[in-house]
Amino acid sequence: TIPLIIDTDTAQDDCIAILAGLLDPVADLRAITMVAGNVGFEQQVANAHLTLNVAGRLGTVPIHRGCTQPLLRHWESAEDVHGDGSGGLSIPSDSLVEADEHAVQALLRLTAEAPGELSIVAIGPLTNLAAAIVLDRGFASRVKTLVIMGGSNNARGNITASAEFNFYVDPEAAQVVLQAGFGDLRIVPWAPLTLSDATFPRADYDRLGALGTPLAGFYHRMCAATIDYDESVGIDGSTHPDSLSVAVLLHPELVTAESGYRVDVETASELNRGMSVMAWEKFDLPVNAQVIEAVDGAAFYEYLGGILATPTTPN
Ligand code: BDR
Ligand code: CA
Repeated sequence: TIPLIIDTDTAQDDCIAILAGLLDPVADLRAITMVAGNVGFEQQVANAHLTLNVAGRLGTVPIHRGCTQPLLRHWESAEDVHGDGSGGLSIPSDSLVEADEHAVQALLRLTAEAPGELSIVAIGPLTNLAAAIVLDRGFASRVKTLVIMGGSNNARGNITASAEFNFYVDPEAAQVVLQAGFGDLRIVPWAPLTLSDATFPRADYDRLGALGTPLAGFYHRMCAATIDYDESVGIDGSTHPDSLSVAVLLHPELVTAESGYRVDVETASELNRGMSVMAWEKFDLPVNAQVIEAVDGAAFYEYLGGILATPTTPN
């Protein structure tokens, strides 16, 4: 099995990513760490609990609260895209089971207990990981594989014309993490990858939602706000950058093209704040990440269908 931690700003596809990390038989999900991003922090914590709840796994994986704001910037949400990210579901506050330990401490402890064994899938802004690096320079060398959902490799953004949301929200953190010397760092860029290979047209989204399990119904509700939003901006379907990131860690055979790049994040410009600059081999710069360029989209769709078809008894 593959032991992993998911670092997340839980709303919509983050929830589906957690389901993959939780239910895929090859995965051993050790912790969920929360970072400020998509929606209000309390709502994100509730959304993570909703996700464990529908899988009947409340209390089996620790949920750690992490950084509630970016390193230098004011927190900005993506509530226009996600609403509150709950799919209209709610959970009583007395059902919340949270770990006392801060997410950054948990990242440091868990990787110290099993150096070189744990992988991390980071699907929100990179504040928690940057804080872990600042606290402990050895952190990066203890992580087996780090998969980051962030940036774009053709400069098409989703929060500004040039920036992808996760890098935009905390660009300084993204730059710290990218330059920290992780031995195996893989990037799932928002564009063009997820738009071409991890976007399901509405008929396919509806087909997943009709699989007849609690998880399928949950998926359909959870992703309703984003598919409506995406269609309103001309994207043909439901986008799945976060669940794809978990999938490529657990099933690298889904990847059909990737290359080494030198990746930096713009922190000085106002116009291009958070833009990822992915320098290809022509520039002969030291490579710091493998950027995933294509995946088998049909196989990824089948994969998610398999996760959502898993029978569960909600808590
Ligand atoms: C990223 O931003 C969030 O809205 C999604 O969950 C994903 O992690 C895409 O830019
Ligand atoms: Ca996310």
